[in-house]
Amino acid sequence: MIKAVRGMKDLLPPETARWHYLETVARAVFVSYGFQEIRLPLLERTELFSRSIGASTDIVEKEMYTFLDRRGESMTLRPEATASVVRAFIENRLDQGAEVKKYFTMGPMFRYERPQKGRYRQFHQINCEAIGGEAPELDAELILLLMEIFRRLKVTGLELEVNSLGCPQCRPAYLMELTALFARGLRDLCPDCQRRSAANPLRVFDCKSKTCQELLAQVPTISDKLCDNCQRHEARVLELLDRFQVPYRRNPRLVRGLDYYTRTAFEVVTTQLGAQDAVAGGGRYNGLIKDLGGPDLPAIGFAIGQERLATLLSQQDADLLQQPLLFVAVLGEAARDRAFELVQALRHQGYVADLDFTNRSLKAQMTMANRRGAAWVLILGDQELADGRAPLKDMRRGEQHLVSLDTLPQILADLQPELKGV
Ligand code: HAM
Repeated sequence: MIKAVRGMKDLLPPETARWHYLETVARAVFVSYGFQEIRLPLLERTELFSRSIGASTDIVEKEMYTFLDRRGESMTLRPEATASVVRAFIENRLDQGAEVKKYFTMGPMFRYERPQKGRYRQFHQINCEAIGGEAPELDAELILLLMEIFRRLKVTGLELEVNSLGCPQCRPAYLMELTALFARGLRDLCPDCQRRSAANPLRVFDCKSKTCQELLAQVPTISDKLCDNCQRHEARVLELLDRFQVPYRRNPRLVRGLDYYTRTAFEVVTTQLGAQDAVAGGGRYNGLIKDLGGPDLPAIGFAIGQERLATLLSQQDADLLQQPLLFVAVLGEAARDRAFELVQALRHQGYVADLDFTNRSLKAQMTMANRRGAAWVLILGDQELADGRAPLKDMRRGEQHLVSLDTLPQILADLQPELKGV
C-alpha cells in the first residue's frame, strides 16, 4: 500500500464540512472589511523566501521543501503566503492608486517540521494582507477582523498577545546591545542560538531551550527601547483594542518566527491545543515590499492555521451550513425509475436529494439514510406510484406524513423555507 507522505493529512468528511464552514465565515468577514481574494502559485523561487522570511530563521534554515527543477533552478513549496502576496503585488503592479490594498488568500503551506498534533508538513492558512497603510488604525482593524472571525465561529478561550518590534530607527541599537549581552553569556545559549545570536539575536526569544529562556529573563526587551514614533503607534493600537473591548496581553517577548516584522506583532494562542498553541499570528512588515524590489509601502497582515482552528469548532455548527438531505428509498424497478426522475428534478431546483441503486431491502435503505444523516426519507413502492402519494418520514422528529409526489418541491420548501433551492 502506498501511504501519504509523513506530516501530510487527508482531509475527509465530516471534517471537510468544518473546513467549508470556517472558510465561508472567514470569507464573509474579509469581504465586509473590504478585502478581496487572490490565489497564488504554491511554488516560488527559493530566493523569495530566503530574502523575506530571513536566512537565519528556522523556516529558511531547516524547514523548506526546496528542490532543483529540470533547468537547475532552485524552487520552494511556499512555507507561508506573505512573501508570495508581496511578490504578486510588485509583479502585477498592484500599487496603482493611493488606497490601501487588501487581499486575502487561503491554501496549503509546506514546512518540513517534526510532525505532531497540530503541526503538519502540509498545513493550511487563511491569510490576509493590507498593503499601503501606515496608520495604527489599520493594525487595530486587522486585529478586530481576526477576532471577528473567531467571534462568528464561536471559538472561545483565546488569548491575544501583542508586542511592538520597533523600527529601523530604534531596533538596530537594541539589537547591538542584545548581541553584546548574548556574547557575554554565549556558553549558556543552545548551539543553534550560539550560531545565530550575532546575526539575528531576536531569534533567541523564539528558542524553546530552557537555558536560552533563562538567559533571556535577564536581558531587556525591545519594548523597553522603542522610539517615540513606535511608542505612539503602539499606544494608539492598544487604545483602539481597549475601545472595542478586545482583551489582549502585552507580551514583550513575542518576536514571531519570521524576520520581516516591524512594529506591531501579534499572536492568538489557546490552551485547548496542547503544545501547538498558536492559532494565528501576524504583524506589520513595513520594509518588506521595498526589500523585495517594490515601492516603499508599509503593510500588515496575519495568518490563521486552519487545522488548529478546525479542531476548535463544533461539528454541529459546521453541519448547519449543510443543506438537509432527502433520501428516496425505493422498492421495485418502476419506483426506482420514478425516484430517479424525482431526485433529478429536486436537485435541479437546488435541493439535496439522493437514492440508492443497489436494490437493497427497505431496512437496509433506512440504515443507509440514517448513516448519511438524511433529514427526510421518502418511501416509494408500486402502491405509492399508483396513488401518486408516498410517506415522507421526518427523521429528526420521527413523524411521517403522506405527501403528493407532484408537490414534493413545494413541500420541501415549506419544511425548510430558509433553505429553499438556490
Ligand atoms: P506563522 O506564525 O508562521 O505566520 O503561521 C501562522 C499560523 O499558521 C500559526 O499561528 C499556526 O496556527 C499555523 N501554522 C504554522 N505552522 C504550522 C504547521 N507546521 N502545522 C500546522 N499549522 C501551522 C505566518 O506564516 C505569517 N505569514 C503570517 C503573516 C501574514 N504575517 C503577516 N502577514
